Amino acid sequence: MGEHHHIAFIPCCFQLRLFQSVVHSRASLPVTRQFFPTAAPDANLEANGDRTLHSAADHSAAETQNRKADHIRICLDEDVQFRQTTGFERYRFTHCCLPELDRDEIDLTTTFLGKTLRSPLLISSMTGGTEQARQINSRLATVAQQFGIAMGVGSQRVAIENPDVVPTFDVRAIAPDILLLANLGAVQLNYTYGLSECQRVVDWLQADALVLHINPLQECVQTKGDTNFRDLLPKIQALCKALPVPVIAKEVGNGISSAMAARLLEVGVSAIDVAGAGGTSWALVESERARDAKQRRLGATFANWGIPTAECVTQVRQVAPHAPLIASGGLRNGLDAAVAIALGADLAGMAYPFLKAASTSEDALVELVEILNAELTTVLFCTGCATPTALRQPGVLEPAGGG
Ligand SMILES: Cc1cc2nc3c(=O)[nH]c(=O)nc-3n(C[C@H](O)[C@H](O)[C@H](O)COP(=O)(O)O)c2cc1C
Repeated sequence: MGEHHHIAFIPCCFQLRLFQSVVHSRASLPVTRQFFPTAAPDANLEANGDRTLHSAADHSAAETQNRKADHIRICLDEDVQFRQTTGFERYRFTHCCLPELDRDEIDLTTTFLGKTLRSPLLISSMTGGTEQARQINSRLATVAQQFGIAMGVGSQRVAIENPDVVPTFDVRAIAPDILLLANLGAVQLNYTYGLSECQRVVDWLQADALVLHINPLQECVQTKGDTNFRDLLPKIQALCKALPVPVIAKEVGNGISSAMAARLLEVGVSAIDVAGAGGTSWALVESERARDAKQRRLGATFANWGIPTAECVTQVRQVAPHAPLIASGGLRNGLDAAVAIALGADLAGMAYPFLKAASTSEDALVELVEILNAELTTVLFCTGCATPTALRQPGVLEPAGGG
């Protein structure tokens, strides 16, 4: 039995060493062995057949964990930002020299999917599955709770594959009151996942909603990506009907068009997170990860592919005037967040800025949220708006240059 366990573990050990050397040399948070999958010794298993099964399952779980670690490292260490912009720079607020407001009365409170947030900010879905990710999630959750903002975790597929890593996502105890979002890839509905897996990831987190990320370009560029996106809409529809919490459809940085948003809302999705182009480029991230030249080139070619975030927000708002809408993809400060809200978004999501601060310290995160809130408040004050939704009044935001 011991030998059986040992044989099954060999590929993981190998990957673990590789992974540790990479992470230790480049990231500031430590990595432990604790969350790496090991084949559970089981006296009842038939030696050969089950060894293969364990090996394959372990291999895929370890692969997913390595991918998660790579994503953090690459986003922090490499330049994987879009060269094309979000489009927010094409707008400017009309400065109001007499706001007729006391700045201290400005109220950033926002409700989204039935929950109240103290400001309209979302920490976009990012990570989980490794010890480094657990520390990042825990810092993010602490600060989300302190400031009453929303938070998503990264894809929980890694926890379905290896339940040992469920605790790396579990931030509910740290952030009992926040709007907390579970996360899975929509395409997994074509790869054996169904209601049971979706319900499980929501339950693990006591999440308020499930984010289904939709990422065809990322899967194309990723070596051995999951690229069968056929017939997903009916599956999303069945899921939305059966799952007791709302489902949010989200891209990962290539944008959701108005036509796609309309179809997703038609099949029962409760909210859209456009995750448009202009920020972190997942084609570039996967290009950096790729081991073969073909995949690297594919990622580089599509580095700037996608619908700029500003376009997504304005266009989706036109076809869905009342749908809960999140703007994300390339938002880098409170001014970007304010433009997104003025264009029609309810919440402003950011991934990279929160990742960068979280990898430094909890204090850096506190400082980031304080600055974002101060920037948002300043926009409201200097446009004479007492609340974020007032930014949508005619004349507050104009095309830059009057065009
Ligand atoms: C390290 C990292 C990991 C990510 N993992 C996920 C994920 O698991 N699921 C998901 O929906 N989006 C994921 N994203 C994408 C972000 O949620 C976001 O859509 C994208 O990075 C664009 O936002 P940004 O320009 O503010 O970074 C990840 C982003 C980062 C930086």
